[in-house]
Amino acid sequence: MKIIILKNAEDVGEKAASLVSEELSKDPAMVLGLAAGSTVIPLYKNLVSLNKKRKISFSRIKVFNLDEYCNLKNEKNSFSYFLYKNLLDKVNIKKENIHLLNGNKDANQECRAYENKIKSNKIGLQLLGIGRNGHIGFNEPGSNFKSTTRKVSLSAATREYNSKFFSSIKEVPNYALTLGLSTIMKSKKIILLATGKNKAEAVNELVNGPITNKVPASILRKHKSCLLIADRAAASRCHKI
Ligand code: GLP
Repeated sequence: MKIIILKNAEDVGEKAASLVSEELSKDPAMVLGLAAGSTVIPLYKNLVSLNKKRKISFSRIKVFNLDEYCNLKNEKNSFSYFLYKNLLDKVNIKKENIHLLNGNKDANQECRAYENKIKSNKIGLQLLGIGRNGHIGFNEPGSNFKSTTRKVSLSAATREYNSKFFSSIKEVPNYALTLGLSTIMKSKKIILLATGKNKAEAVNELVNGPITNKVPASILRKHKSCLLIADRAAASRCHKI
């Protein structure tokens, strides 16, 4: 796994956007895997701005999202809503090229169909954040490395952390859909972003700890083309880089 450490979250977003642009210039019809969460906001801001300046085009791009909550009371808490608000509504992407997991449908059917769609579309570049407990997507500690897209139950720690986007913790669903670890590993390239002090322990485990499903992100070290872009705060506990 290659690692780049930059000063702050803004620089991480800018760097990631320039790498996405590079991929896009090589393959304007690329398949991009999108993550939600606060970490990717600066990246999406930069992509929107590059698109506005006509430096990049989303006209042929296809996107798939990484994960989604099940049975939300308020759709505004969904990752789909987040992606539309922060990126998809603001760029020239075609509606038919947007593929998002739906957490309100029959989970088994939805996950099977989504996994098959990804099999035939092959994600060229998957964007990821990391949870404080080392999760990627909603693959919580203990997830099988061979897992595919499925319904999972969320850990108390994840529900608590993600409650920042909800009016109260009671509103945070107990279940979610996520791309599996093996699905993520099949992406041609992966960029994982980590910013902020609260990710420092997870980043240290990811970089220096054993490859174990107790830290799901650690499987990324076996990927042929995975890049970690962290800011100084997130990398602050990595004594060995
Ligand atoms: C969340 C999501 C992930 C996200 C990660 C980091 O729980 N399941 O898709 O990448 O955890 O979130 P944030 O960027 O808000 O710290």
